[in-house]
Amino acid sequence: MLDNKKILLVISGGIAAYKTLELIRLLKKDNADVTCILTRAGEEFVTPLSVASLSGNKVYTDLFSLTDETEMGHINLSRQNDLIIVAPASADIMAKMTHGMANDLASTTLLASNKSIMVAPAMNPEMWDNPATQNNVKMLRERGIVFCGPEKGDMACGETGEGRMSEAQTIHQAVHDFFFERPLKGKKVLITSGPTYEPLDPVRFIGNRSSGKQGHAIAKSLLKAGAHVTMISGPTNMPDISGVDIQRIETAHEMLDTTLDALPADIVICAAAVSDWALTSPSAQKMKKKSDDDTPEIKLKQNPDILKTISQMTDNRPALVIGFAAETNDLEENAAAKRARKNCDWLLANQVGKDENGTQRGFGTDENEIYFVTQQEQTRWNNMSKDSVAQRLTDHIIRHFNNK
Ligand code: C5P
Repeated sequence: MLDNKKILLVISGGIAAYKTLELIRLLKKDNADVTCILTRAGEEFVTPLSVASLSGNKVYTDLFSLTDETEMGHINLSRQNDLIIVAPASADIMAKMTHGMANDLASTTLLASNKSIMVAPAMNPEMWDNPATQNNVKMLRERGIVFCGPEKGDMACGETGEGRMSEAQTIHQAVHDFFFERPLKGKKVLITSGPTYEPLDPVRFIGNRSSGKQGHAIAKSLLKAGAHVTMISGPTNMPDISGVDIQRIETAHEMLDTTLDALPADIVICAAAVSDWALTSPSAQKMKKKSDDDTPEIKLKQNPDILKTISQMTDNRPALVIGFAAETNDLEENAAAKRARKNCDWLLANQVGKDENGTQRGFGTDENEIYFVTQQEQTRWNNMSKDSVAQRLTDHIIRHFNNK
């Protein structure tokens, strides 16, 4: 039963909109509280009256309705619900979501949302296959948007292919899975991710090649397993993930302070490539060459070790502290020694730098080869995508808490 679950259903334009009436009926029968937004195009396919009658709630249709904006508004609509479903999700609304457009109530609410979003796409197969849509789908998936369908079959337009909206029963099941297939529900996770930038002066910094892809993949995977995820990220090009609280910082000191402020947590995963050093005194102005042979000396001091600081906490130490180690050589020996030195529970070491063919490994790539080290076991995970590493780590975490 979906007792007390508050669902915001966004109905966009498309012939499949008729199926959402059945979806509302199924969700209501399951005791969910369903509120609907009907886009202008959606209104061409189902009427506000039928949606209001089935949901038992007022239907929101217009961003510029002053009463709605004072009574509830696009911010409250997203805040007061546990899950937002977009069904049917037309190519148009997915494009708006991807690019952050906010020119009607539905797109504004989706942009303002801090909740998980599920989409059930519905469109002509050519529209679905179009690279423009596929690029949008990729971006939305990266942001943690949950996809239900589309499916293959006959379309209302007479064509056949991928693009049919999933049946109401399938979406209803996906909503159940979202709420209940959540083995890490109630667990609070902090993830550090990306590089840190240590300033030399206001324009230059010491950084590294970390892309933040692995931390990002772990955040998505743990979110899907039901954890409450906060990610403390250095500068990266990775998009925000809806449902993940992302705190963006630059230096190691900021990363440490933000992480400590976010404690207590059940699990801390330090996937960031933190600079070991920062300048003792960065210049307040841009450093200038004073002569042709001027080579300034820079003095470094050690940065705090975030992983070690948390692993060595005596009060309220998180139940599971996990580190990463990027190694260029002697992976196995270095990994085991590093886990013991840092006092973390698990360490995932990976080879970085160029291989014998000159190909970059680890940093910035989509794959990782992990050497997994705990106090009891050491296992090599064969080369796999960063998403698969994240999934495997999530499975380990779930098993760890189940066995407790
Ligand atoms: O750089 P190093 O190999 O020591 O990093 C191993 C682990 O320690 C990683 O999980 C990294 O996020 C963490 N670390 C940290 N703070 C530092 C250096 C490393 O949290 N200053």
